[in-house]
Amino acid sequence: MATATEHTLSLWQDHSPTQPETALTESLRTDVCIIGAGIAGLTTAYLLAKEGRGVVVIDQASPGGGETGRTTAHLASAIDDRYAMLLRRIGREKASLAGESHRAAIDFIESTSHAENIECSFRRLDGYLFAGENRDAERLEREFEAARECGQRVDWVESPGGLGFLGRCLRFPHQAQFNPLDYLRGLREAVERFGGRVYGNTRVLEIEEHDHNIVRTDRDVMVRAPHVVVAANTPFNDRVTMHTKLFPYQTYAIAATVPAGTVPAALYWDDLDPYHYVRLTDATPGFETLIVGGEDHKTGQQPHPNPAFENLERWARERFPQLGTVTHQWSGEVLETMDGLASIGRNPGSRAHVWIATGDSGMGMTHGTIAGMLLSDLIVGRDNPWREVFEPSRVPPAGLGEMAKENLNVARQYFDWAKPSGNAEREPAALRPGEGCVFQRGLHKVAIHRDGDGTLHERSAVCPHLGCIVEWNETEHTWDCPCHGSRFEAKGEVIHGPSPVNLASVPPG
Ligand SMILES: Cc1cc2nc3c(=O)[nH]c(=O)nc-3n(C[C@H](O)[C@H](O)[C@H](O)COP(=O)(O)OP(=O)(O)OC[C@H]3O[C@@H](n4cnc5c(N)ncnc54)[C@H](O)[C@@H]3O)c2cc1C
Ligand code: FES
Repeated sequence: MATATEHTLSLWQDHSPTQPETALTESLRTDVCIIGAGIAGLTTAYLLAKEGRGVVVIDQASPGGGETGRTTAHLASAIDDRYAMLLRRIGREKASLAGESHRAAIDFIESTSHAENIECSFRRLDGYLFAGENRDAERLEREFEAARECGQRVDWVESPGGLGFLGRCLRFPHQAQFNPLDYLRGLREAVERFGGRVYGNTRVLEIEEHDHNIVRTDRDVMVRAPHVVVAANTPFNDRVTMHTKLFPYQTYAIAATVPAGTVPAALYWDDLDPYHYVRLTDATPGFETLIVGGEDHKTGQQPHPNPAFENLERWARERFPQLGTVTHQWSGEVLETMDGLASIGRNPGSRAHVWIATGDSGMGMTHGTIAGMLLSDLIVGRDNPWREVFEPSRVPPAGLGEMAKENLNVARQYFDWAKPSGNAEREPAALRPGEGCVFQRGLHKVAIHRDGDGTLHERSAVCPHLGCIVEWNETEHTWDCPCHGSRFEAKGEVIHGPSPVNLASVPPG
């Protein structure tokens, strides 16, 4: 189902056969054009098509080919950035609405998978938040109080399931997990049953804003629609405003076998920064698969060599000595925000009806589902109690410190222009197959990659979005931009915005 352009495959992508996708080959008119067939785009499409609206979904790859195919698919109302932080940054009323929206999203996935007969291994289970080493246990006390104040069910438990490393921890009941690509496949089929159309292999280059917006694609055809939803994970249609409020991070996951029944089925999260997240899924008879995630760092700012997978495996083996073979290792991008909540609503600065869903904050399964529920209401003209909580133009005053810190980090990346690239010992000719590096050639920064056949490929290392210098990602064999998270496959084709276009060819001279 999903096409992966990164080097690694997630567990779900590996088990989900790729289907040939039909590209958009003729210009169309519709009520709503949705860009992106991940969980946000397809949930929005499903709800609108079910209400009888004309819907066209366009994806540059195929449904699930983005971050939805690379998730670990915890469905949680225990907020990743914590209720205590939400209370400080947005106050009790909005923090309670945020908690309510995540609970409603999990209920929605459960009821939709029943209503549409989607076999996606949806399962309700408890989530445990534990302190982890070197962490102040008082933080959990504060989180307990804050979560209760926001109306979230939570209680204290002592080392559940006999897992000693958990210690005294918080239990969030009635959380859930599922298989994201099975769910997406079912949603897509439901969209098409309700008359919606889904096209793959078609990149949207530009949205011209009018009463009937024009969505221009790389296939010389366009879609005209009064409403356009940018569900491309990041709003590539917005050049600056939103990208000062979205902070891209790379996160890593491994899957390994454990003997069936040796780890109690639950979601586990520690309270470190970056934190670890753990869940189980079915494997072969007698075995289950433990999925462990974490080791986040800013996109395009990874250490070389990158120890993320080794660190995750070591962390897991110390706590689960029964861990067998590691079967999968993969990574992907998440977009953090100032208050740990997504941005869903009218695109700031748009004169026309252009809507966005972005800023997953590591909770994109629920945030993507909330996006579908909220945007479908706003598009058909219904109000929604969550509108203000997720309003993209919001700037919570208590989040300004975070925003300043992240934007200082972006500003620092521009110094890469002044630094010479590569080093004396490293010449392009010395690159081994599968390696990449940015080299200085005269005035130009050149991103050079040697493919598996030994051929060298060169592109300009200047990110077409706002001109930062891309970095080689040795894990995924991609060029990643350290400023706002654009990512390009090894030969320079864009796979993740905000850059709407590929890395340019190297200018002469
Ligand atoms: C390792 C990892 C673990 C995670 N774990 C969890 C978890 O446990 N729980 C959780 O809730 N979240 C988790 N997340 C986050 C979650 O997976 C994502 O936030 C979520 O999948 C994003 O969904 P989306 O629909 O916004 O974007 P995507 O799934 O990325 O969909 C966007 C789509 O838009 C398409 N597109 C982009 N640009 C264009 C264009 N110009 N033209 C046409 N199409 C375009 C892409 O091809 C893509 O298919 C995790 C993420 C990672 C990487
Ligand atoms: S993503 Fe903004 S400069 Fe590269």
